[in-house]
Amino acid sequence: MVDRALWTAQELIAATGGTLHGTITKPINGVAIDSRNLNSGEVFIAIKGDVHDGHQFVVNALNSGAAVAVVSKPTDAMKAAGPILVVADDPLRGLENMGRAARAWNKGKVIAVTGSVGKTSTKEMLHVALSASGSTHASVASFNNHWGVPLTLSRMGRDVAFGVFEIGMNHAGEISPLVKMVKPHIAIITTIAASHLGHFKSLHEIAEAKAEIFSGVTSDGSAVINRDSEFFDFLAHEATNAGIQNIVSFGKHEKADVRLKQVALHPTCCCISADVMGEAMAFKLGMPGAHMALNSLAVLGAVKLAGADLARAALALADVAPPKGRGVQEFLEIRNGNVLLLDESYNANPESMAAAFALLATAAQARKGRRIAVLGDMLELGKFGPDLHKGLLKSLEENKFDKVYAAGPLMQNLWNLLPSSQQGKWVLQSADLIPALLRHLNPGDSVVIKGSLGSKMGPVVEALRKQFQPAKKDD
Ligand SMILES: Nc1ncnc2c1ncn2[C@@H]1O[C@H](COP(=O)(O)OP(=O)(O)O)[C@@H](O)[C@H]1O
Ligand SMILES: [Mg+2]
Repeated sequence: MVDRALWTAQELIAATGGTLHGTITKPINGVAIDSRNLNSGEVFIAIKGDVHDGHQFVVNALNSGAAVAVVSKPTDAMKAAGPILVVADDPLRGLENMGRAARAWNKGKVIAVTGSVGKTSTKEMLHVALSASGSTHASVASFNNHWGVPLTLSRMGRDVAFGVFEIGMNHAGEISPLVKMVKPHIAIITTIAASHLGHFKSLHEIAEAKAEIFSGVTSDGSAVINRDSEFFDFLAHEATNAGIQNIVSFGKHEKADVRLKQVALHPTCCCISADVMGEAMAFKLGMPGAHMALNSLAVLGAVKLAGADLARAALALADVAPPKGRGVQEFLEIRNGNVLLLDESYNANPESMAAAFALLATAAQARKGRRIAVLGDMLELGKFGPDLHKGLLKSLEENKFDKVYAAGPLMQNLWNLLPSSQQGKWVLQSADLIPALLRHLNPGDSVVIKGSLGSKMGPVVEALRKQFQPAKKDD
């Protein structure tokens, strides 16, 4: 393999259509949109974010070693710090065109993942599973939106064997333009659930929006769809309508092409036996939870479709770990024992709440203490919010929770339904739960902390970590 820069200056100029001021002297070995974590030699694209305009940071980026900056509003200070590539339009268009160019020269297999929950987990599993067969490029974190997708594309080396892209949406119409850039050979929809339901009239509309992913699949491509979803028939129909001939289903359903035969749920992993399109497989998944076991079926289906080595992929899945805030388990020392903490603070919706409660129940099975849920509001549910919060009661009961601590106006709906013996504390702001938790937690307790990112449950996790030392093992 020839060791070459990710982008040559000529390729960059051609893709962005910009005019160069100054001379590019460094090999361009990466693409950045955030000057705070820019590596020397990367091209800095000055895009407008939710809060800041990247143009404010161009001089900073160049001073930090950027090979060149792509801007639409040049200043003398930028030219002095230079080199800069001046484009007529929003630099985001330049990034998109870089993404398209990178996609065009890549000869590997490209996989796109969408779904209401499980995109990042599935993407991470694919990254690990495919890396066992060849070089694999994948989205960082949840870079799945109008800038995350072109950024990930523009960073894809031309020699990678596999590209894995997470594609997300908050509204209808967002997936179509993104998937048309990615042009996946394989499109996965993990599941349809009530995430961002507030922006839609019904779950069916969410299914329609997710089905947009089929519109960008290559002509010989495949769709991987959840057989257990109530929307399976609809999604399969949409895939066919989009011209996809090969549909692979996954799930517990007896007709699933990738079928879960058995799963043993352990506190920190699952042992799975599955039929993967006619091949019997038994493997260990390094992430706990029945929901993750199901995601892994989509992964193996995609691995097989991509022509990668299935046995190596299954072996590699033993080594995956939950991404930050999505099921990481740790033990914290408290008095003469420990608390098991399940950090699910990254995000929440009804589906993933239920999955997290079940996971805590599995992890707590061998422990003597209480099962405690510390919950923040699930956001973006619109008029469905109050009822969906009330609906959590059932799965708290099923998983035998002893206490609930809750923060936020929506969680009050759930709180009011709880028997007083289960009411720990309700507050408006998540931070106000911290003193009560620090006082009330006992050795042996198992605690899940979960809420939408905007409900700020992460700081609650951090406060516990700050107060209690990590403990090595279970009681
Ligand atoms: N198939 C699934 N069903 C229910 N919950 C899931 C599923 N996959 C993941 N989750 C949970 O959903 C939350 C978000 O997971 P993540 O993989 O980050 O999804 P996304 O990228 O779609 O937001 C986590 O709490 C995770 O444990
Ligand atoms: Mg994600």
